[in-house]
Amino acid sequence: MDAVEGVVVAEDEAFWSVVESGEGGALAEVLGLEAGVVEGVLPALVDWRRSRVERSRAAGMRYRVSWSVVDGGAGVLSGRWLVVASEGVPGERVEACVGALVRGGAEPVVVVLDDGELDRWELAGRLTEEDGFGGGFAGVLSLVGLDGRTGVVGVRVGVPVGVAGSLALVQALGDAEIGVPLWCVTSGAVSTGRADGVVVPEQAMVWGLGRVAALEFPQRWGGLVDLPAVWDERVGGRLAGVLGGVEDQVAVRASGTFARRLARVAAGAGRPGEFASGGAVLVTGGTGALGAAVARRLAVRGVPELVLTSRRGLGAPGAAELVAELAGLGARATVVACDVADREALAGLLGEHPVTGVVHAAGVVDTVPLVGVGLEEFAEVLRAKTLGARYLDELVPDAEMFVLFSSIAGVWGSGGQAAYAAANAYLDGLAEARRARGLVATSVAWGPWADAGMLV
Ligand SMILES: NC(=O)c1ccc[n+]([C@@H]2O[C@H](COP(=O)([O-])OP(=O)(O)OC[C@H]3O[C@@H](n4cnc5c(N)ncnc54)[C@H](OP(=O)(O)O)[C@@H]3O)[C@@H](O)[C@H]2O)c1
Repeated sequence: MDAVEGVVVAEDEAFWSVVESGEGGALAEVLGLEAGVVEGVLPALVDWRRSRVERSRAAGMRYRVSWSVVDGGAGVLSGRWLVVASEGVPGERVEACVGALVRGGAEPVVVVLDDGELDRWELAGRLTEEDGFGGGFAGVLSLVGLDGRTGVVGVRVGVPVGVAGSLALVQALGDAEIGVPLWCVTSGAVSTGRADGVVVPEQAMVWGLGRVAALEFPQRWGGLVDLPAVWDERVGGRLAGVLGGVEDQVAVRASGTFARRLARVAAGAGRPGEFASGGAVLVTGGTGALGAAVARRLAVRGVPELVLTSRRGLGAPGAAELVAELAGLGARATVVACDVADREALAGLLGEHPVTGVVHAAGVVDTVPLVGVGLEEFAEVLRAKTLGARYLDELVPDAEMFVLFSSIAGVWGSGGQAAYAAANAYLDGLAEARRARGLVATSVAWGPWADAGMLV
């Protein structure tokens, strides 16, 4: 800033502090006008200033995930590498990864788990046996995350085999005392830009889970590698490079190796849009802390009709008072008890109350160290967020507003919250997948809110 600009900035600041003081006489003096002239516009100026300051403060708190091209590394590996896959992982993918390890200098030992071995204890037994044959591995490459099947016996509804298997593997490696770096492979979990294919939200869950494993078991964590749908020799070389390199959240693409970064959103980018439709908005978890806050904000912004859901509905504390408060703000609110993870119930609700906008804020959190979390409780934390979001995506595809309440736990992990992180990573992935399909969607990964909500 040069001297002239500095003077202008100082004068601007002085002017706006007079506006913020709300004193008409002082402002009239600054402007050289009669006090009566400025008094009429002063309240509007004060409001304008306040909203701009709030908006720029909020903008300063915004970050987004970005991808940087990095040096792919030399790809020099050594020692025995345990490669773990499951029945649903395409054989050619296993072969390609094994080939990449061999060319990188490693000696792969391949274990393909059948569906009966997805259980943590079965798996620990099998791994102990494999480890015992040669006396130790240099690393573990898990391809289990690539198994996109659902509905396999023993794996709960809403938990893809790749996620259940990855959870079992992280735990079983600890049980079998195999303390070498674990690398988890996915395909389509992340998008590095427009040239990428569509994100598969189920694959993104493995990244959410992996980031928590990285926090809880740093000494035996390698990283996450996302591979492209189409394999070629360069991809194999880059995979070996990543396994021998320093980056731990990487997308390998035909065009290069990309490392995940968190970057500040540039000022002025993604200016807030207005929800212009006069239609109704569904707020799931609408009787919870953040759901109620967003309902109030929507009412203030002129949304005429709100449909608020939670499992307890009007039985939730404060629900009736919230309806009255929203009426006072000009919105007609209906509270309906509905489990968003129950597709039929959700479809029935939307049949009765058609909406043009969706805010999906329903969710539960649980804090259990990864070493002890069971598949049942893992699935329980996933269901409202992931099944709810999936059904909303299917049932309101052309929503004019589709906002998912995600969490920072999904972005950088949170100790003891593997399922919660996986669920939020799913939401972020679903928003990307919708946008790639030309639909609207925004996933807001909130940091902890003060004063209210599930983390207080
Ligand atoms: N609070 C924070 O600091 C924070 C930070 C980051 C992200 N978030 C996210 O923001 C969202 C709202 O959080 P909050 O703090 O407002 O939590 P909250 O007060 O506990 O509200 C959660 C709401 O979800 C409802 N819900 C849970 N399972 C449901 C299901 N299966 N079907 C329908 N409704 C269900 C709950 O009501 P019932 O129990 O009656 O169903 C409750 O109304 C969550 O998705 C959370 O992950 C919050």
